[in-house]
Amino acid sequence: MAQDTSSSTETFAPLDPAPRLLMGPGPVNVYPSALQAMSTPMLGQFDPQFTAYMNEVMVLYRQIYQTQNQWTLLVNGTARAGIEACLTSMITPGDPVLVLNFGRFGHLLTEISERCGGKVITLETDWGTVFEADAVRDAIKQHRPRIVATVHGDTSTTMAQPLAEIGAACREFDALLYVDATATLGGMSVDVDGWQLDAVTSGLQKCMSGPPGSSPITFNDRVADLVTSRKHIEEGIRPTGYVAAPGQRIQSNYFDLPMLMDYWGPDRLNHHTESTSMLYAARECARVVLSEGLQNTFARHKQASGALRAGLSAMGLALYGDEANRMDNVTGVYIPDAVDADKVRTEMLEGFGIEIGTSFGALHGVIWRIGTMGYVCHKTNILRCISSLEAVLRRNGYEATPGAGVDAVYGAYDAK
Ligand SMILES: Cc1ncc(COP(=O)(O)O)c(C=O)c1O
Repeated sequence: MAQDTSSSTETFAPLDPAPRLLMGPGPVNVYPSALQAMSTPMLGQFDPQFTAYMNEVMVLYRQIYQTQNQWTLLVNGTARAGIEACLTSMITPGDPVLVLNFGRFGHLLTEISERCGGKVITLETDWGTVFEADAVRDAIKQHRPRIVATVHGDTSTTMAQPLAEIGAACREFDALLYVDATATLGGMSVDVDGWQLDAVTSGLQKCMSGPPGSSPITFNDRVADLVTSRKHIEEGIRPTGYVAAPGQRIQSNYFDLPMLMDYWGPDRLNHHTESTSMLYAARECARVVLSEGLQNTFARHKQASGALRAGLSAMGLALYGDEANRMDNVTGVYIPDAVDADKVRTEMLEGFGIEIGTSFGALHGVIWRIGTMGYVCHKTNILRCISSLEAVLRRNGYEATPGAGVDAVYGAYDAK
C-alpha cells in the first residue's frame, strides 16, 4: 500500500546531484551552454523575439537533418512525442503499415502504429543484424503498405539500418517512409533529402546532448499533403469561414501535425503553450553541433567508438552485433561470464561516477551498452571509461592485462 505523505512537513535539501559521466545509451551529459540557455528569461510565445527564435530553430534543424523541408520543427515531449505526432497524423485507421523490426524500438513503432489503427505487418530480423534492402523492397512490393516505419539506429541492439535503398524502394511503390532517428541524429549522418526519407523524428538527449523533453522532427510535402487532408482545427480557434478537410480527424489533439503546422507556420495559430526553456535548449544544442560542423561531429563519433571498441577488445571482451552495421555512438559488449553484471555497473557508478547501460529483453544480462554520444564523445572520457572498467572488472575476478585497454585507446587515437 502506498505510504500516506499528506501530513508530511518535510521540505528537503536543495538539489545537489553528484557529478556523473553518462556513458549509457542516453540520456547523456548536457552541453553546459544548453543548460545556460534554459535559464535565460521567459518570453511570451507570440512575442516577436520568441517567434524569431522558433524560425531560427527551423533553420538550424533543417541543417541538422540535411533537408530543405519547410516543416522542420519541435514537438514538446521526449522522443516518442515526435514518433506519436508523425504516426498518429500519418496513419488513418485501416492503413497498411510495414514496420521493420530489428530491436526494442521496432516493437515500439509496431505498438504505436497499432494504437493508431494501422493494419501492421512486421518484418523481423535477428537482434544484432539489420535488413538487406532487397528483402525490404520485396516486402513493400508484396504488401503495398501506405507507410513503412523503421528505426535508424536501434539503441537496444546498437545496430544502424542503412536507409538510402529503402527510401528509393518506398518511392518506387509509392509508400511513405517514416524513420525514428532518436539515437543517431547529431552522431551519424541522417540525410533526409538524399535518402528520400518522408518523415523523421528524434530527441535531444542522445547525440544532440540536450535534456530529454523536446523532439525535433521534419517531414516533406508528401507527408504535409497527407496530414492536411485530415485537418480539423479545434473549435474555439477556427478562423471565420473555416471548413474542415474531408479526411478522418486525427485522434490526438496535442500531436496533430496540421495544427502544429499552423502554429509553427506564418499563421501562428494558437495551439499548445510552448515549452519555452526546452526550445531554448534545442536551439542551443543545434547551434553547438553546427558550429563544430556536421562532418566533424560524425567523424568524432566514429573515431571515439572505434577507440572504445579497440580498448574493450584489448581487454579480451567480445563486441556484440554485426560489425558492418554498428552505430557510431553506442557499443554493445558481452558481459564476461565470471562477473556479476549489475555489481560491475554499480561499482563503475559508485567508484568512478560513470554510468554505463544495461540492456532490454533477451539481451538483459548478456551485454552492456556503452554510449559515446555528443558532449561525452571525447578521448578523455573514453580513457576514463576504459581505465575504470578495467579496474572494476579486475576487482571482480576478470583477468585483463593491466593497461592493455588504455594502450589500445591511445593507439586508436594516435593512428588517426
Ligand atoms: C531509437 C529510440 N527510439 C525511441 C526512443 C524513445 O525515446 P524517449 O524515451 O525519449 O521517448 C529511444 C530512447 O532510448 C530510442 O533510443
